[in-house]
Amino acid sequence: MTKIWSLVSCHILIIFLNTSASSASVDYSSDPYVQLFQQYLRINTTTTISDLTPAVQFWQELASSQDLELQKHEYVPGYPVLVIKWPGVDPSLPSIVLNSHMDVVPVNEAEWKYPPFAATLDSDGVIWGRGTQDMKSVSIQYFLAMKELKQNNVTLLRDVYMTLMPDEEVGSVSGLRLFKESPEFTALNVGCVMDEGAAAPLPVYGMFYQDKAIWQIEVTCYGEAGHSATFPASNTTATGKCRYVIDKFLNYRDQQHAISETATLLKSGLFTAINLNKIRAGTANNVVPQSVSLVFDIRLATELNTTAFELQMNSWLAEAGSGINMTFLQKNKQSARTVVSKKNPYYVAIQSAASNLGITIVPIVSPGSTDARHLRLQDVPAFGFSPLANTPTLLHTDNERLNVTTFLNGIEIYKEIITSLANIPASKTNKLDVQSLVVQSEFN
Ligand SMILES: *[C@@H]1O[C@H](CO)[C@@H](O)[C@H](O)[C@H]1NC(C)=O
Ligand SMILES: *[C@@H]1O[C@H](CO)[C@@H](O)[C@H](O)[C@H]1NC(C)=O
Ligand SMILES: *[C@@H]1O[C@H](CO)[C@@H](O)[C@H](O)[C@H]1NC(C)=O
Ligand SMILES: *[C@@H]1O[C@H](CO)[C@@H](O)[C@H](O)[C@H]1NC(C)=O
Ligand SMILES: *[C@@H]1O[C@H](CO)[C@@H](O)[C@H](O)[C@H]1NC(C)=O
Ligand SMILES: *[C@@H]1O[C@H](CO)[C@@H](O)[C@H](O)[C@H]1NC(C)=O
Ligand SMILES: [Zn+2]
Repeated sequence: MTKIWSLVSCHILIIFLNTSASSASVDYSSDPYVQLFQQYLRINTTTTISDLTPAVQFWQELASSQDLELQKHEYVPGYPVLVIKWPGVDPSLPSIVLNSHMDVVPVNEAEWKYPPFAATLDSDGVIWGRGTQDMKSVSIQYFLAMKELKQNNVTLLRDVYMTLMPDEEVGSVSGLRLFKESPEFTALNVGCVMDEGAAAPLPVYGMFYQDKAIWQIEVTCYGEAGHSATFPASNTTATGKCRYVIDKFLNYRDQQHAISETATLLKSGLFTAINLNKIRAGTANNVVPQSVSLVFDIRLATELNTTAFELQMNSWLAEAGSGINMTFLQKNKQSARTVVSKKNPYYVAIQSAASNLGITIVPIVSPGSTDARHLRLQDVPAFGFSPLANTPTLLHTDNERLNVTTFLNGIEIYKEIITSLANIPASKTNKLDVQSLVVQSEFN
């Protein structure tokens, strides 16, 4: 990793050559931007089991190639949080933060067409590897966009920070959740955060302004047990009680599913998604089990009254009989939303960049949840955006991959967005109360 920078400094804007559909015939293998991306993908940063030192070195080298300061904060040993500062003209103004995470989810290597950490570029111009979509592409795009802006002497009014997190895929408990509470975070004087979005096979770009909060519950039903030659009433057995509970939850699920079928892809905040993901019971084939336990994963509709919903769940359990209890494995606060209207100068700046680029950015609720939700709960305006239109959604899947053209195009998109955000005039944010740019839920 010693010569990263010399590779990058002579990049040619190959995307401008892509005027016909024959992009596959362009050989990207010697493109320095593609090579930099591949280099990062080849660092195995599988969450919690990988040593992130090589990734830290990679970023340290890139930062120093640009004469930039990289700060490393380790709130928990082994979980480095990196901050790279690109100074703007007026450091007194609220800054722009480009957040991403270094870690990736585990792979099932046997299912991959190419090795998941080889970053193979195929003859169609597609790069295969864990992290191509989620989200090493975005980190590299942020960096290359900033590097080009600097090289082109583009003046940015506000400080821009790149922040890189160690453990987003396992809940950010050692990374962002500690960082956002730290004096180091306060010192960034954050105006707005850009974080990850998701790829979609659509010609438009979705941008998350709100997430769906996650609840996970475990319901355990206890009942009459014994030899299978005994024959207790269904409603006194663990399985009979659980049948009742399952029916209630799945009936509710069916109602919510019907809503999801009428909601468009862009309206996933309208319904509560419930999945029964674990059922545990039984010791032997001829023994009536003493207990059955069920794990439900629940993604709350953004306007769900959580108090009322919890009362509803409790009443289902009460109806099912005695000897049933429920524990929360995860109980997150109902999510906050970043304002997406003319009242938010950061949103306006992003839409103005989209208009310059001739692309459509649609504000949407994320069907899942990202680091940005922790920031919004702290009244920090945050958006989730990955420049991955016309791209199959392969986050966390086998054979995650990304079209090189899309990757390179994303650099141009970020150049425009970052320039627009970092040059919002001081007058537009001087009297802004960040809390007015984030709306907290009334149900927390
Ligand atoms: C990659 O993207 C370009 C531009 O959208 C498209 O022309 C090309 O067909 C894509 N290649 C693959 C293999 O999907
Ligand atoms: C990636 O790193 C993890 C942790 O060290 C390891 O368990 C896994 O086998 C590695 N995967 C590959 C494909 O090298
Ligand atoms: C940027 O500024 C430097 C120093 O003034 C100059 O050498 C360089 O040519 C400029 N680059 C561009 C793209 O204008
Ligand atoms: C269980 O079901 C029987 C009928 O099969 C009914 O008489 C009884 O009241 C029920 N018990 C409970 C606790 O619901
Ligand atoms: C939520 O539901 C609870 C219980 O039904 C109710 O008391 C409360 O007023 C509701 N909250 C809001 C904000 O509607
Ligand atoms: C759940 O209820 C059962 C039966 O009432 C009780 O024995 C058990 O300790 C409870 N478990 C938890 C985790 O509260
Ligand atoms: Zn991610």
